[in-house]
Amino acid sequence: MRHFISVNQLSKENIISLIETAEKFKQEQYYINQQIFAANLFFEPSTRTKMSFIVAQKKLGLEELDFHSETSSVQKGESLYDTARTFESIGAQLLVVRHPADNWINEINANVNIPIINGGSGKEEHPTQCMLDLLTIYQEFGYFEGLNIVIAGDIKHSRVARSNANALKKLGVNVYLCAAPNFEDNTLDFPYVTMDEAVELCDALMLLRIQHERHKSSSGNTYHYLENFGLTKERERRMKSHAIILHPAPVNRGVEMDTDLVECDRSRIFKQMTNGVYMRMAIIIKLLQEWGILHEHAIEKRQ
Ligand code: CP
Repeated sequence: MRHFISVNQLSKENIISLIETAEKFKQEQYYINQQIFAANLFFEPSTRTKMSFIVAQKKLGLEELDFHSETSSVQKGESLYDTARTFESIGAQLLVVRHPADNWINEINANVNIPIINGGSGKEEHPTQCMLDLLTIYQEFGYFEGLNIVIAGDIKHSRVARSNANALKKLGVNVYLCAAPNFEDNTLDFPYVTMDEAVELCDALMLLRIQHERHKSSSGNTYHYLENFGLTKERERRMKSHAIILHPAPVNRGVEMDTDLVECDRSRIFKQMTNGVYMRMAIIIKLLQEWGILHEHAIEKRQ
């Protein structure tokens, strides 16, 4: 794999292998005994993805090159391509990029010769979020085939929805979508259900944040959204006893879900964040190995 850009690049076997590696990193501590510089180029706000990449890099012993687009030469008009080439030129051996453009990879793919991980591309893909979601689901059920999973919320503007729907389908999950009419996206070929149907049929309910920043016109009016389209306490009581709730976060509390449900027994929202660190470690190792950047005995177990 040249860059980690889309879940569509991954086979079932690749996905299970990454889940197993992430589980191993959760149980036992490993590090790289080699100097490797990594840069996290975030051109959109982030708390979880950026910080969990930094923790993953620090756990692995990588050296993070500090970058903030608002205090960088991006403010003088430097492009993503020139920024990436600059980091490559000064010795970075790994880039994580989040950018609002759907296809930013096309700008840098051909001529940047260090591995790149997609930390979020517009509304198209969020593959590392998808992989940590898959890890969380696998920890819960131990399998994917035949599970009923509903992805609910702002489908139209959500990169998490796109990555997850495609990966879950590949794994044999029965994927359903659920959205307010203005948030439906009929380019995705999955059946829609109402939230009342969703809570009763699902094994996992994957809620999505309303992506206000990607709406063309102001859509700030979320009046009655929770009652009409969100997860209320009354709906939560109708879920199967074993069913779990996922959300990539940040959560608009009281909009996508009742605020009391964010940390309820079924919620795996904070567990998803913990899993993000280990999954990102697994993805970093996979890419560095595939590029031949790691020496033969570079990965060591911490004593
Ligand atoms: N889930 C997620 O991508 O969160 P951040 O935007 O905080 O990184």
